[in-house]
Amino acid sequence: MVIKPRLKGGLALTNHPIGAKEFVKRQIDYVKSQDKYEGPKKVLIIGSSSGYGLATRISLAFGAGAETIGVAFEKGVEGKRVGSAGWWNTIAFNEAAEKEDLVSKNFIGDAFSMEMKDDVIKFIKEEFGGKIDLLIYSLASGVRTDPIDGATYRSALKSTTKEITGPTINFEKETMEETTMGVATPEEIKSTVKVMGGEDWKLWIEALDKGGVLSEGFKTVAYSYLGPKVTYGIYKEGTIGAAKRDLEHTSDILNDFLKEKYNGEAYVSLSKALMTRASAVIPIFPLYAALLYKVMKEKGIHEGTIEQKHRLLTQMVYGNNPVIDEERRLRPDNWEMREDVQEEVEALWDKVTPENFKQISDYAGAREEFMQLNGFDFDNVDYNADVDLDELAKLVP
Ligand code: NAI
Ligand code: NA
Repeated sequence: MVIKPRLKGGLALTNHPIGAKEFVKRQIDYVKSQDKYEGPKKVLIIGSSSGYGLATRISLAFGAGAETIGVAFEKGVEGKRVGSAGWWNTIAFNEAAEKEDLVSKNFIGDAFSMEMKDDVIKFIKEEFGGKIDLLIYSLASGVRTDPIDGATYRSALKSTTKEITGPTINFEKETMEETTMGVATPEEIKSTVKVMGGEDWKLWIEALDKGGVLSEGFKTVAYSYLGPKVTYGIYKEGTIGAAKRDLEHTSDILNDFLKEKYNGEAYVSLSKALMTRASAVIPIFPLYAALLYKVMKEKGIHEGTIEQKHRLLTQMVYGNNPVIDEERRLRPDNWEMREDVQEEVEALWDKVTPENFKQISDYAGAREEFMQLNGFDFDNVDYNADVDLDELAKLVP
């Protein structure tokens, strides 16, 4: 079967398993081109199969020699359906890790469930040396079933203040178009906090603590985003922003607890805007990212997913140059948020039109990044070659 890209707005309906291998390999190559670092030895990553979680796993394994457990929600081959990008990323990671004798174990399923927590804890106890030094929380999900009351909550990407209309990029049609973000009801705000806030992160830490699998000096970091003025309406002041503030509040509670009991730490890290499966569907965000890339590339300070996470880990979490704000948040988004960067982005934002957006933004770069997330647009992958799905279906993460 020959696999071609098929898009629907900001969603990719197909992905390329051979391209996924290249996607993972390039991130590994980057880490290997950098100095090795002293980091954690045993790591659990929730949301390990794509975006920031995957990059974190790659940096820790190939940069610090960490053994990793990944938890992700992905699908394999079903009939003529090729499976999800994160499924193939995980298989590619495993293969590369195995070649270097790096232990990697995967749990594919719902991280929000108690059953998943129990399974992971059992594995840590019985087969992973008994303890972990680091937990990375990098989930992006639209739905969560609360394991305590059994109710299912759906997140809404909405404003909490007023209806917002603004431009975004449609990768399917390759156009710039207006999107409107409606105002969330109190119920929708609550549900989004339930899905994307700190509750599940806290449940993980509580379960791991009860299971006795946290080491002395244990650290945990959850990923968040703040963003600049042009995205405030959709992000900071949106439902997703409300959830992220809840995550930050949770980090303080967890930090107090971990410090006391394990001499440990909990942080939220605010990352740079990037194209991932999660961010590509947020209204306005893709256009902002394309303009931001233009400015940051011109200034020589652009980072992709792997560069961003590698800097967070080597300089901040396991290094001596942490950038921390008054609210105790790690700030690898510091280059994105630089005043000169944001001034130039705002100037472009005022000028951008459906006619000129491909010229004045880094549309090509943002689109390439989006395609590569799904294994497409690599110059060294033959996309006309037949992919043997039956053979691939035998592989499991
Ligand atoms: P992503 O969509 O690439 O990755 C999400 C991960 O969560 C995947 O591994 C997926 O399998 C996993 N997942 C989703 N639902 C799950 C479930 N029920 N059980 C187990 N695993 C599940 O997203 P991305 O962008 O890497 O986001 C990760 C975090 O980084 C989020 O908290 C996001 O807000 C944050 N972030 C993203 C930025 C961006 O520009 N993309 C910027 C700053 C922060
Ligand atoms: Na992730």
